[in-house]
Amino acid sequence: MSDSVQNTRVVVVGGSHLGRHLSESFAALGAEVITASPRHGEHLDLSDEAGVERFAAKIGEVDHLVSTAAMPANGPLGDLGAEGIRRAFDAKVVGPLLLAKHLRVTRSMTFFSGFAAWRPQRHRTVMAATNGAVKFLVEALAVELAPVRVNAVSPGIVDSGVWPPEFLATAGDRALTGTVGRPDDIAQAVLYAVTNPFVTGAVLHVDGGARFA
Ligand SMILES: NC(=O)c1ccc[n+]([C@@H]2O[C@H](COP(=O)([O-])OP(=O)(O)OC[C@H]3O[C@@H](n4cnc5c(N)ncnc54)[C@H](OP(=O)(O)O)[C@@H]3O)[C@@H](O)[C@H]2O)c1
Repeated sequence: MSDSVQNTRVVVVGGSHLGRHLSESFAALGAEVITASPRHGEHLDLSDEAGVERFAAKIGEVDHLVSTAAMPANGPLGDLGAEGIRRAFDAKVVGPLLLAKHLRVTRSMTFFSGFAAWRPQRHRTVMAATNGAVKFLVEALAVELAPVRVNAVSPGIVDSGVWPPEFLATAGDRALTGTVGRPDDIAQAVLYAVTNPFVTGAVLHVDGGARFA
């Protein structure tokens, strides 16, 4: 049997869309949830190391960390500036490293990748690179932080509230399942990563097979 999250302390980074859904799901299972982001819950900006350090000192020890943070930099390369590209890496790569450095996490960390890394598309190069980096980040952190477990969830297109309906209407055509994901599909995978004591250094692909479609 897997562990339970009841009576555990869980930090969820990101308070919009999937982050909000995850916070609600953990709370419904009896966890004490600390939501943190630039705009929701405790103030946390992963591009500011001093801020991450202050947040960590305020929160103290937690059982689990889940970060949904993303700052996409999409578009033709000619339109992208170094600052936007760095922000994208701050949210998905540098920020998780800063959290791993400063936040006292005793049991597990789960970060968010995305199928764009395995299915590159024009004008999504930075997204592919940041999400791809998350795979190697969790493998290396799993080794560095053991026995704390470190994993990633890699969603396909999910109806998280972030996409316009006209996009979602046909987005399922680009998955083997012919569907887009539901927030609960992602929450189930995160819960698995958080509670299965034998899973570490893994990327859980919850993308309807979109990386092969
Ligand atoms: N939805 C999809 O179809 C899909 C597909 C593939 C991968 N994903 C991945 O799943 C994750 C969640 O996606 P979502 O649909 O919930 O989109 P979202 O609302 O855009 O999620 C991004 C989250 O990042 C937080 N954030 C942004 N900059 C930050 C910073 N500097 N420091 C800390 N937090 C920061 C935001 O916080 P606040 O808004 O609360 O301030 C927001 O909650 C993302 O990593 C995304 O790449 C999603």
